[in-house]
Amino acid sequence: MNAQQDLAARHEAVDRDPESYWLEEARRLDWDTFPTKANRSSFDEADFGIRWFEDGELNVTVNCLDRHLAERGDKTAIVFEGDEPGEGYSLTYAQVHEEVCRFANALKDCGVGKGDRVAIYMPMIPEAAFAMLACARIGAIHSVVFGGFSPDSLADRIQDCGAKMLITADEGSRGGKRIPLKANADKALEKSPVEAVIMVKRTGGDVAFVEGRDHWWHVLREKVSADCPPEKMSAEDPLFILYTSGSTGKPKGVMHTTGGYLYWVTATFDMLFGAKDNDVFWCTADVGWVTGHSYVVYGPLANGATTVMFDGVPNYPDFGRFWETSNRLGVTIFYTAPTAIRALMREGDDWVKRHDRSQIRLLGTVGEPINPEAWNWYHEVVGDGRCEIVDTWWQTETGGALIAPVPGAVETKPGSATKPLPGVYPALVDNEGKLLEGATSGNLVITQSWPGQMRGVWGDEDRFFQTYFTTYPGRYFTGDGCRRDDDGYYWITGRVDDVINVSGHRMGTAEVESALVAHPKVAEAAVVGMPHDVKGQGIYAYVTLNAGEPESEELRKELRQFVRQEIGPIASPDVIQFAPALPKTRSGKIMRRILRKIAEGEPDKVGDTSTLADPAVVDALIEGARSA
Ligand code: WT7
Repeated sequence: MNAQQDLAARHEAVDRDPESYWLEEARRLDWDTFPTKANRSSFDEADFGIRWFEDGELNVTVNCLDRHLAERGDKTAIVFEGDEPGEGYSLTYAQVHEEVCRFANALKDCGVGKGDRVAIYMPMIPEAAFAMLACARIGAIHSVVFGGFSPDSLADRIQDCGAKMLITADEGSRGGKRIPLKANADKALEKSPVEAVIMVKRTGGDVAFVEGRDHWWHVLREKVSADCPPEKMSAEDPLFILYTSGSTGKPKGVMHTTGGYLYWVTATFDMLFGAKDNDVFWCTADVGWVTGHSYVVYGPLANGATTVMFDGVPNYPDFGRFWETSNRLGVTIFYTAPTAIRALMREGDDWVKRHDRSQIRLLGTVGEPINPEAWNWYHEVVGDGRCEIVDTWWQTETGGALIAPVPGAVETKPGSATKPLPGVYPALVDNEGKLLEGATSGNLVITQSWPGQMRGVWGDEDRFFQTYFTTYPGRYFTGDGCRRDDDGYYWITGRVDDVINVSGHRMGTAEVESALVAHPKVAEAAVVGMPHDVKGQGIYAYVTLNAGEPESEELRKELRQFVRQEIGPIASPDVIQFAPALPKTRSGKIMRRILRKIAEGEPDKVGDTSTLADPAVVDALIEGARSA
């Protein structure tokens, strides 16, 4: 069977008899108890719930490590590439297995057990993967917090999930700069204490050490056994919590489970990247995001592939870093974000062409819509027109890719994530929820559950249903707008809710607003997305100052700095426009549509303003936008 026939057979099989298809597919994993049931999910309010392979039992690390030892024990599992080119090393499956077992025993010695939450705030070093896998080994639930988040953001997440322990490093090192992870962690722990801290020595920088609470990993490592039997877990036991931004309130703890999630990342990694024994797979995402969970750690390791962990940035020491490193490490499959592609494209082809890329055979992209210009550059310049482009659409909530071209089976079109994978049923609906047929645009929903779907919002049972299943009852709402063409291809157009996608990172406008209004000089703030050449979207903030507070360039800087401190550098507004007033309806609701149009530089398209309490506000805003 060729790839095309195989894919067609899968679609046919899952449409015809889903239960048999999924149970057959479950054989991709090693189970302690093989499941007898596949899908027991409902999107309806009356019997709402998502459950997959529910009577199955397994351990994630057995699948990611133990089962490879007999045949691939000496195969490279993780290639670590540090911030400085060539600063790194490789670890075999046998070595990673040992480190994970040791780390798991260290967690146990610190009092962590099944069901306990462990926060991880780390650089992109192998120990971050050890820490995640160590949790999975003993049934603890990890919550990785991106190392770029502020102490406050870390504290909120620790508190929300009730983490018992924090795993961190002394410092990170990115683009030649040090990142004070432990110092940030110490600040966070003042607000949200934990029982124990394990700290990995990365840079050897000077850090505080709290006796009785803090432990050095390299010290613990010597004291513990390298033998740690895996905990047998139910398929529906939580594997991890990962916080992500929504359109309202604080980030929510997206919860994924053991069986369904692991199956989905295992299957999609295999279908989309099909890593063979001599492949080296490099996904440039940080483990602080879902892409790092699914396609740096769990997906590749469950498939016995070689995965690269990169602790640097695309422009350090120069703009050729990705290609120099790919060549040196023998990377054959490369997966990155459109924002990185656009940033590098801007620097010219020479940075690419000076490095041999002939070993690369597949190029992937994820995180935001990729514009055809960037797609073509990736294809022609980076891939020399040779490599297929795998544009994968998915979300933190989906666990792994849902819409993406299976190489060799689905013809690509620049800018389209193409078609759904087997067992994924997307649909487009209008704002009233009416199902749209044929070539059209609408809101993207998924009509049936898939194994990698999130199972809940941590600590808030109702929020999962309320957030995703009430806008269009009976369907999962993605929050994305989408077009479907005559060939049935999907073209994601971006978020239609109050979420913005900055360099592939998700930000809730509400979060940035609440950071801004926390500043003593700010009375009110409204945040919207704006088009940005490199980042995809930038953050545009309208800020109303307290009465009598003078506007100044300095205050703009101060506000940016303030948001960085409150949330992290990724939330820093690109534009701050001081606005004497915001456009509100008579009932006091801010009309964001108007703010979006002004931020997009299309003030003539603000539309009907007659329902505003004071329509004159709009002219003042348009005037103000010119100088912002
Ligand atoms: C949002 C999810 C998927 C892991 C990284 C981001 C946008 C993601 C694509 C793509 C167009 C995309 C969507 C989605 N998005 N991939 N290939 N084409 N848009 O995960 O932080 O949960 O963000 O990213 O808008 O809803 P996330």
